[in-house]
Amino acid sequence: MKGLFIVFEGIDGSGTSTQASLLENYFLNNYKKAILSPEPSSGPIGNLIRQILKKRVILTEDSQKFDEQMAYLFAADRHDHLYNDVDGVFKLINEGCQVICTRYYFSSLAYNCQTKEDWNFIKSLNQRFPNPDLVIYINLPVESSLQRLSDRPQKEIYETKNKLIKVARNYRDIFAEYTGLLLQIDGTESKDIIHKKIIEFIQKKIIF
Ligand code: TMP
Repeated sequence: MKGLFIVFEGIDGSGTSTQASLLENYFLNNYKKAILSPEPSSGPIGNLIRQILKKRVILTEDSQKFDEQMAYLFAADRHDHLYNDVDGVFKLINEGCQVICTRYYFSSLAYNCQTKEDWNFIKSLNQRFPNPDLVIYINLPVESSLQRLSDRPQKEIYETKNKLIKVARNYRDIFAEYTGLLLQIDGTESKDIIHKKIIEFIQKKIIF
């Protein structure tokens, strides 16, 4: 039997990594194969992206050009992440493993778009990537996210108030029109309550 492809989305600091780990443990404790596989991925393009996000590699000072270059890199990383023959998402799913991703093409639409033209460009770059079996969107107010991020030692390129306000708006628009299976969760709840809601939803909606 094929595994599930489950994606977590949310602004930086919203708790997607914590919830993805809790979900992985839930599957493992129930004798299911499961793996965490974030984007940017651990592959060669994903590693380059991480260096750029930390400002170890500088692409350009021009913000419009930067967004466009990042959109291409994220899409190239996504293709590698899904389809590579070593640890690609579809290889793992076909082996019966539940693959849990923090971030997918929704993040490109949320983070790498400033205008309607950007939106159309990013939609077209990502149009051939299939929808996951389930998207879990953790909705956290920007103020709460900034408070959590202030405790972290290192800041990444997109972790600013203005950027996250735009990203949160983009997420709202994306999920207002998304037609796949979606769970939207209030990210201000405790991590245990959020985890419980996710498990209840999966048990109710997905047969596996
Ligand atoms: P992370 O915080 O989940 O590790 O993700 C790293 C950053 O990459 C985060 O700020 C969101 C950003 N990102 C994009 O801008 N576009 C994308 O397509 C993806 C997958 C991530």
